[in-house]
Amino acid sequence: MTEPPNSTSAIAAFYDATVGAFGVLFDGCVHTGYWARGAETFSRAQTDLTDLVLDAHDVPVDSRLLDLGSGQGGPAIHAARRFGAYVLGVTLSGEQAAAATAAAQETDVAKQVEFQVKDMRSTGLPDASFDGAYAMESVFHVPDKGAAFAEVFRVLKPGAALSIADYHHLHDMSPEDDGIATGMLAAAPLTPLDEWVSLLTGAGFESVEARDISADVVRSGAAMREAVVERREALTAVGGPEGYGMVGEAVAQYTRIYTEGQGFALFTARKPA
Ligand SMILES: C[S@@+](CC[C@H](N)C(=O)[O-])C[C@H]1O[C@@H](n2cnc3c(N)ncnc32)[C@H](O)[C@@H]1O
Repeated sequence: MTEPPNSTSAIAAFYDATVGAFGVLFDGCVHTGYWARGAETFSRAQTDLTDLVLDAHDVPVDSRLLDLGSGQGGPAIHAARRFGAYVLGVTLSGEQAAAATAAAQETDVAKQVEFQVKDMRSTGLPDASFDGAYAMESVFHVPDKGAAFAEVFRVLKPGAALSIADYHHLHDMSPEDDGIATGMLAAAPLTPLDEWVSLLTGAGFESVEARDISADVVRSGAAMREAVVERREALTAVGGPEGYGMVGEAVAQYTRIYTEGQGFALFTARKPA
């Protein structure tokens, strides 16, 4: 039987293949930017989104945080510094985990962060072993989000917070865009805002809140496309002209379909104490 184009192995293959290009394009964060805090550069806007997501956590030094879909490690390194916490990042991509580990080794928090290849729906991590968890632009890849929420609920300690920044369904896609989203970008069908809330509540979380922040991220579409043009030389050095074309196309489609075409929200929730 052939695998669907957005299977876990396709997601892993997509992020394995883009690790070099995304390393050139972004400063360790593979996500959109948040512009409501006065950012003047895309990199600053990305960090501001990370901080917005981390604002949901009030954890002491030496606490344990879980990064669901940790990408190239930027958010986990930032969280480790901000809180003095240990952060475990899980990703489907072995290349991302290796790149994130190498990036962390260059920092002052090398001993506080770790990256492992795991599916966020079945991590094998012990029950009630984390003081908080967050996910940035990763759950939109997961078709059965309820399974991911049940798993993170299991591994969080009572009273711990979960925060998520991700896309939600605003409009049905054209069949052509649906094919690009599933095939080229290995994404799952988008979930409407109220369904995100029901799935989080259904997994046992309380104080579930969803805040649409689409207007504060939409500028990231143009910023990402500009970065592709500005960094053409470095991107071509990594992937050749063909690789540059592929990254340019992926970023163009991603920003058009998602960043500018759908909704983006901040979700916060808490495991009952
Ligand atoms: C757009 S990147 C975001 C990376 C990172 N959160 C950031 O903001 O820089 C999407 C990430 O989600 C991860 N991902 C997607 N589905 C996953 C799953 N089922 N389990 C673990 N990671 C997953 C990918 O491996 C990738 O690291």
